[in-house]
Amino acid sequence: MIRDERLPSDELRRLDETIRTNWSTGADIDFEEAIRYHDSLPAHKRFADVLESADDPLLQPRAGVPRLEDQIELLAYLHESGEADLLPTTIDSYTRDNAYEKAREGLENARETGDDTLNGFPAVNHGVEGCRELIDATDAPIEVRHGTPDARLLAAITFAGGFQSFEGGPISYNIPYTNRHSLAETIENWQFVDRLAGTYTEHGVRINREPFGPLTGTLVPPSIAIAIMLIEGKLAATQGVRSLTLGYGQVGNVVQDVAALRALKELGQEFLPDEVCVTTVFHEWMGGFPPDEARANGVIGLGGLTAAIARPDKVITKSPQEFQGVPTMEANASGLRTTRQVIDMAIEQNIDIDGIDREQQLIERETRNLLEAVLEAGDGDVVQGTLAAFDSGALDVPFSPSDSAKGAVLPARDDDGRVRILEWGELAMDDEIKEIHRGRLSQRADTEGRDQSFRMVADDVDAISEGKLIGRPEPRGDA
Ligand code: 5AD
Repeated sequence: MIRDERLPSDELRRLDETIRTNWSTGADIDFEEAIRYHDSLPAHKRFADVLESADDPLLQPRAGVPRLEDQIELLAYLHESGEADLLPTTIDSYTRDNAYEKAREGLENARETGDDTLNGFPAVNHGVEGCRELIDATDAPIEVRHGTPDARLLAAITFAGGFQSFEGGPISYNIPYTNRHSLAETIENWQFVDRLAGTYTEHGVRINREPFGPLTGTLVPPSIAIAIMLIEGKLAATQGVRSLTLGYGQVGNVVQDVAALRALKELGQEFLPDEVCVTTVFHEWMGGFPPDEARANGVIGLGGLTAAIARPDKVITKSPQEFQGVPTMEANASGLRTTRQVIDMAIEQNIDIDGIDREQQLIERETRNLLEAVLEAGDGDVVQGTLAAFDSGALDVPFSPSDSAKGAVLPARDDDGRVRILEWGELAMDDEIKEIHRGRLSQRADTEGRDQSFRMVADDVDAISEGKLIGRPEPRGDA
């Protein structure tokens, strides 16, 4: 039975040897030599140190193209013209699916045609040497960003290749991404990834780990996201991770977003072991964007303002071309600069907004409800508790494509746009909290002169892309 316990080193070694045989480039990994490579990197390329010592929020985009030379050029552009503090390498979908042969073909094709025939950088195919060329050529720390349920080989290669930060986690890279892996399976996969990061850490190379906070990206109630971040953080800490960046995705209500980021930081420090350095990352809106670039910049600007007030350690920026998918490098850099402008103008202001403390208390109380249910379900073991809680629906994620979550929870915005819960399913929450949500949603229903229903949920999902925050019905013609 899988539990929240550190993988024994002989088990780590056994798994590591097997995983390396999954693809030819696995053979080039040499742990001792990798430690020497990391030790040779200058201070300004050490991800955890740069992130943890920053005074103001650091900005990081997403970016990945198939060919090495293009990836080097892209990152240099985002660093210089976009003024990104931290850089990404976004991995292509084939590699995320462990389809290394298809990724190889795509890369070959890209090299022949000059087209971006993959939607990211196939790091497993580039291998240890290719990754190091990228690290050597780039003048800032780089994180591996992906969405891979089984990221064991990707982690082994990119860690050996010099990357010092790795996104994802067993819940956050399962529930929103896949239906092909059970939660028990992804927890095992990520115990290996975290244990490997922990082994580098023991050898003086702190690998930063970043659970993916936005989850399904659509109206996720903050307490659900925070509870999952704390669980993934705890699992990573057990395996020896000492630098953790907990994530949260913007919902668009400034009070709720600031409150959630504060709750995330405080609960992270409270719940995770003292030896772990906990930082936070704020994702600009992950839901549907307006097609109009000018309006998209408005969404990005509101993210910047929220970040200036809440002061997370890092912000993942969006581009004005979000609606159409992967942005051009110019649009990507422009999203960075828009965010930077708003943060720089707002961060020294003393912006005092009423209601943040109260909202934060509510979020913390809800999160404690969820965590207590998990611990209870697992008799104190977080792994068993997580499996049982997702199974019963005591822990749940709205709009989940995965069978691992019930997806019975339905969120809707209240009358000032805060995300509340309309349908609870079996979510572990006390009645007083449910009553608060019910009251807030009923106030909105009154304002709109309609019943609370799934219609509201659907309207809210589309609202921001249609230029609003709350999905209110059109005013009647005779009004
Ligand atoms: N380059 C830049 N952004 C990317 N995204 C996905 N792949 C890439 C890539 N290769 C972004 C999408 C969306 C988010 C989920 O990830 O545009 O903003």
